[in-house]
Amino acid sequence: MNNKIANLTQAVQLNEQDLLASIDRQKLPGHIAIIMDGNGRWALKRGLPRSLGHLAGMESLKDIVNICCDLKIKVLTVYGFSTENWKRPQQEINYLMNLTVEYLNKEINELCEKGVKVNSIGILKELPQSVQDIIANSVERSCNNSGLIFNLALNYGGRVEITDAVRAIAAAVEMGCLKASQVDIQTITDHLYTAGQPDPDLLIRTAGDCRISNFLLWQLAYSEIWFTNVLWPDFRRQHLLSALVDYQRRERRFGGLQK
Ligand code: FPP
Repeated sequence: MNNKIANLTQAVQLNEQDLLASIDRQKLPGHIAIIMDGNGRWALKRGLPRSLGHLAGMESLKDIVNICCDLKIKVLTVYGFSTENWKRPQQEINYLMNLTVEYLNKEINELCEKGVKVNSIGILKELPQSVQDIIANSVERSCNNSGLIFNLALNYGGRVEITDAVRAIAAAVEMGCLKASQVDIQTITDHLYTAGQPDPDLLIRTAGDCRISNFLLWQLAYSEIWFTNVLWPDFRRQHLLSALVDYQRRERRFGGLQK
């Protein structure tokens, strides 16, 4: 990362060691999902182009992947580009696409060393060829890894995902492979991009907005949600640890009663 941005990144005040000590390793979430919001505002606050906010956000992503590996989290899903983000100026879209290529090119060796299994969720075929190629390459190179499953949500939308699942199920019914009466919650779960993975236990959204923006609509049914005002480029492992401390204080009832 260029030094200018490193110097601008807000110093994190939280004490990592204290936070680590207060975390119960037996009660960590299996799956963490993150809406990495606030790159643009981070840049605007500093009089910089939005692209530099995204570049700074890449550094946060690296730090968060590392801490997830250290904590042996099973699945991390990050919202890199939504089906609605095509509404942004073409220049910004191009920048985000190139950044994804740069990120995977630079990081894939280290990700593999850490045992990370790269996966993508979203409609890949609509992305530029360079992005499709680097994703295919990263998925292939990391497919035998058994550590963190790292889902990059690119051209991802929850409604499109559910629509795709319904279409595939309807086709199976039409072909006589399945009866309509056999379609249940598990059938739908099995047709999502995240088939075979646990639902997120914890959703984090940075930058202050309290909405889920078409992210993992089905999978978030019982996730704990943690919102923070911290902008994504300022978000570091200490913030994630704070979210985990808070998560562990919550009682999850899944519609049942207090134990
Ligand atoms: C939201 O901030 C962020 C994005 C749309 C892109 C996320 C991308 C990164 C964190 C870069 C690294 C990611 C990959 C996949 C390499 P915003 O632009 O909506 O911010 P704003 O709400 O302040 O305008």
